[in-house]
Amino acid sequence: MQKPENQILVIFGASGDLTWRKLIPAIYDLDEQKLLPDNFAVLGVSRSEFSDDKFREKMIDGIKKFSNYKEDDNKQLESFAKKLFYLSIETANPEDYANLNKKLTELDSKFKTNGNYIFYLATPPGLYSKIPSNLAAHKLNANDNDKGWRRLIIEKPFGYDLESAVKLNKELLNEFNENQVYRIDHYLGKETVQNVLVTRFSNGVFEPLWNRNYVDHIEVTSSENIGVENRGGYYDESGALRDMVQNHLLQITGLIGMEPPSSFDSNSIRNETLKVFQSLHLLDVKEVPKNVIRGQYGTSTIRGEKVPGYREERGVPFDSRTETYVAMKFFIDNWRWGGVPFYIRTGKRLPTRVTEVVIHFKQTPHYLFSRKGSPEACNQLVIRIQPDEGILMKIGMKVPGAGFNVQNINMDFHYSELRNTYLPTAYERLLHDCMIGDSTLYARGDAVEAAWKFIQPIQKAWEENKDIPLYGYPAGTWGPENADDLIDEPNTTWRYPCKNLANDGLYCEL
Ligand code: BG6
Repeated sequence: MQKPENQILVIFGASGDLTWRKLIPAIYDLDEQKLLPDNFAVLGVSRSEFSDDKFREKMIDGIKKFSNYKEDDNKQLESFAKKLFYLSIETANPEDYANLNKKLTELDSKFKTNGNYIFYLATPPGLYSKIPSNLAAHKLNANDNDKGWRRLIIEKPFGYDLESAVKLNKELLNEFNENQVYRIDHYLGKETVQNVLVTRFSNGVFEPLWNRNYVDHIEVTSSENIGVENRGGYYDESGALRDMVQNHLLQITGLIGMEPPSSFDSNSIRNETLKVFQSLHLLDVKEVPKNVIRGQYGTSTIRGEKVPGYREERGVPFDSRTETYVAMKFFIDNWRWGGVPFYIRTGKRLPTRVTEVVIHFKQTPHYLFSRKGSPEACNQLVIRIQPDEGILMKIGMKVPGAGFNVQNINMDFHYSELRNTYLPTAYERLLHDCMIGDSTLYARGDAVEAAWKFIQPIQKAWEENKDIPLYGYPAGTWGPENADDLIDEPNTTWRYPCKNLANDGLYCEL
């Protein structure tokens, strides 16, 4: 892997959870693999008062808890921590950026980083346009060769709806060029999401089948067993549609649905995913209730333990109508996918944590054999994104012995079977990509807007028509049963990787 040029990473929101839990442990893991620049420093910026030493102490604690490398060697940790610095400023206040500029000049000359800076915005979204304009006011956005390069990483959520995303893009592009802006969707940093591209475009066997002639329908599931935990305040403003569908699930759909790019570079790949988003069939507001099912988890008992319902979670109003579950059916209007239904679903407090894509191929036109199990359960390619990352082909095979009975079997590959293979975390991959200036796995502004455009009629329908049901589902179950009605193919249901965990006796876990 390429070693990045010398540079400084500035993290805004450095006292927050993301920095402690994900970013610094990922940077540490890059260091362990010798993938950091030779000259490198991190400057944490936030309003809270910390000394460098206190900041380092907190970050070492995060590394010990969350790094892939279980490190007990305090010397190694302390030597890494010498790269970490902290500055307390009021990020919304333009005057405070003079201090930032001064501190950066000091670190730049100490570490000889040639004025190359990444600014990572891990702050509340309200600051996403203020910080770039404050940076620009102090000429920290410049991209001229004498002063080094500047890049900006923006965390999700990128906008709240189409209008706010367009506005944010406009504000960012007033101060930075598109090629300086890196919009994070951490699902694109997942190894197995990238493997969708390799599976499709490095094997001649799949491409001829990957279209409306051979694919019956496609399913994308991203389920979580956790509830909203301590993020009730944020989540209640967001809901599953904004939190998971607009970004992560549509990005996966983009990789599944795209045409082969002409080359493997950032623009070619992102042009192709953009075309998928632009071809998504926009629902009419009136079609929403029939094609999109929303739900909210209620209290339940899971393995003998009572779990709270969504409305009892901290930070959530007692009468909240925010969805914690979404399932939907939609189409991609182009020559490859015309008429093929895509089903996607996501939810909190479902029975297990699993993200997977299932390509359901069409059945043979005339079935010759008797079989155990349904024919629909074979002819499937399952791409397991997490956990137990891997790929599974379900096919029918002869039951040994007399007659011609068929049974379903699995041909599978699990990443865990690869020896000496290290699976980097999404943040490791994405941070390193930004450090080397590769934006392939970051969302481009036009694609983010196209994804919001698709989501817009659903938001509008839910806002305008309060009669559209918000179905309750007991925590630990697969969401409202009404989601089954979305699938109108005969003898077909969602793939249930395991049964319910609510107290109905059907325990099972991945
Ligand atoms: C985040 C959402 O983007 O993704 C969370 O805000 C969600 O609500 C998380 O839990 C899921 O990510 P992962 O990597 O655990 O599947």
